[in-house]
Amino acid sequence: MNNQEKKPVKILFVCLGNICRSPAAEGVFLEILRENQALERYTVDSAGTGGYHIGELPDSRMRVHARQRGLELVHHCRQVTTEDFEDFDLIIGMDSMNLTNLRRKAPSVEAARKIHGMAEFFSPGARYDHVPDPYYEGAEGFELVLDLLQDACLNLYNSLESEKRN
Ligand code: 4NP
Repeated sequence: MNNQEKKPVKILFVCLGNICRSPAAEGVFLEILRENQALERYTVDSAGTGGYHIGELPDSRMRVHARQRGLELVHHCRQVTTEDFEDFDLIIGMDSMNLTNLRRKAPSVEAARKIHGMAEFFSPGARYDHVPDPYYEGAEGFELVLDLLQDACLNLYNSLESEKRN
């Protein structure tokens, strides 16, 4: 069976508010898929563990910084649901609080196995062990998030593609 015939890999990126880090991760990963003509092989979405901003577009600061890198973030904020643990193959949290909240929400041990930290995909030698919340930070916080996500999403993509080939 070649890659085209396989079911898409479904990835859900998760942060607290779903207006900064996880919609940016979704946008970065989608751009990698576009560049590699791989859109049909993946389903990508994002959600928040909190429900403070449901329905909103990503934070305007995140959209400005993403746009400077050629990324348009058009996701509308939503909260993680129990069904997400059925629907997605990989559920990727940005920091330890997201991971704790996701593990609490997981409906089964099998579902909890889908949860991973974004930092698992940082390149060796990374100075961070999570994607820091930029909400109360300045421009550097948003740039840092995008730097970490562009590195991690490329490593995630390459690792999934090499798994598919094996
Ligand atoms: P995010 O950032 O988790 O990366 O979307 C935040 C956005 C909003 C809030 C916290 C973090 N908030 O408290 O409203």
